[in-house]
Formats: sequence, structure tokens, C-alpha cells
Amino acid sequence: EEAALEEKLREETIDVTLPGRTFSLGSPHPLSRTIEDIEDFFLGLGYEIAEGYEVETDYYNFEALNLPKSHPARDMQDTFYISEETLLRTHTSPVQARTMESRKGRGPVKIICPGKVYRRDSDDATHSHQFTQIEGLVVDRNIRMSDLKGTLELFAKEIFGAEREIRLRPSYFPFTEPSVEVDISCFKCKGAGCNVCKGTGWIEILGAGMVHPNVLEMAGFDPDEYSGFAFG
Ligand code: PHE
Repeated sequence: EEAALEEKLREETIDVTLPGRTFSLGSPHPLSRTIEDIEDFFLGLGYEIAEGYEVETDYYNFEALNLPKSHPARDMQDTFYISEETLLRTHTSPVQARTMESRKGRGPVKIICPGKVYRRDSDDATHSHQFTQIEGLVVDRNIRMSDLKGTLELFAKEIFGAEREIRLRPSYFPFTEPSVEVDISCFKCKGAGCNVCKGTGWIEILGAGMVHPNVLEMAGFDPDEYSGFAFG
């Protein structure tokens, strides 16, 4: 009986050091991958990753960003309100105000913040009631528009291809002055005009500008000492 048992144990010996069979299931979501690529780029430039809240207060989403009560961007059409003072953030810019406030008036501030944003838009091929933005903010002494431009140029080439060019168009945001909208040369037609760039050769990717002195001041930074740029 004992011999039979020994025999059976010997036969059934398994090598527990053998590696298991691996199999792959799925792959990172394109959105996650894009966020990671962009984070990697900015981490390499010494930025930190900041987080905010998808449910925001009226103060951080609007007021602290120099958006007075009467501003059209506050229209009920654009914003999902939860109550009079709370809403689903319409952009990641409230993270600018929250981050600056937490730094108690001392720079440098160098952050990016990826996150979900919400707007009362009708969904179609190029609009959604919920989409993803990445906010960037740099505040320090002697930050200039050329710093913004250089950063965005590097960013465009890294993320959209080495041969990409950028174009800055004058624009308006209450929280930046001056403000610009930034386009990249179309990656499909290389600028000739096609269905992706609506025949213009350029694709709009972000809004940006120099942080408005009122925004710096409301968040506790002295606008005579500090300047900054932001993009989203
Ligand atoms: N928050 C703006 C938007 O959602 C983009 C932006 C961010 C513009 C930072 C300037 C500076 O349209």
C-alpha cells in the first residue's frame, strides 16, 4: 500500500517552478494611452500632475477665473448645474485656481491636469456632453509668451509628429490676456486641405494665454512679481 502511494506521488509530481501560461486580454484604452503619452511628455519637462473635482463650485469653475456672473459662458445652455452653487465642471481650468491657492502665493507652479469635463452640447461626430481636457499651468517670475509658444511647439511635435507646425490665432478667454487658440498643421494631408481639417490644412487643439492678473491675484499671487501661462 505504501509503495503504491509512493509510486502515485512520484507520478503526480509537478514542477511548481515552471512559469504559468500567459495570455493577453485587451490593451490600454486609446484615451488612457493618450493621457499617459501627454503626461510623460510634461513630466519630462518637470511638471507635476494635479487633480481637481468633476463636481465643482461656481466659484472655482467661473468666479475665480475672472468670469463674472453675467458672462455668456455661464449660460444654462452650456453648464450642467447641480444646484445654484455646484455644477459639473465645464473645463479643467478650476484646477488652475485651486492649485495656485494651495501654494500660498509662492512659485514656481508647474502642473498639468487631465480630466473629464461636461457641457450641455448635443452629441455628434465632433461634440460630446462629456469629454477629456488637459490643463497646463506655469507660474513663476519672468514667464513670457515665448515660453508658452516654445512649450506648445515641443508638445505638438512630440505628440502629433516631428513635422508638425503650430499656428497661434488671437482669441479671448476671461482668464488669460492675451489669449490665443492654437492649431497644428493637419497630420493627414500635411496642410493641403482634406476632410479631417475641413479643407483648411489646420486643426485646432487648444486654447491658451498668459494668466490674467485678476486670476493670479484672486488665488493669492502678486501679479507684479509673478506671471504665468496656461493652456487647456
Ligand atoms: N478652459 C478653456 C476652454 O475650455 C481653455 C483654456 C485653458 C484657455 C487655459 C486658456 C487657458 O475652452
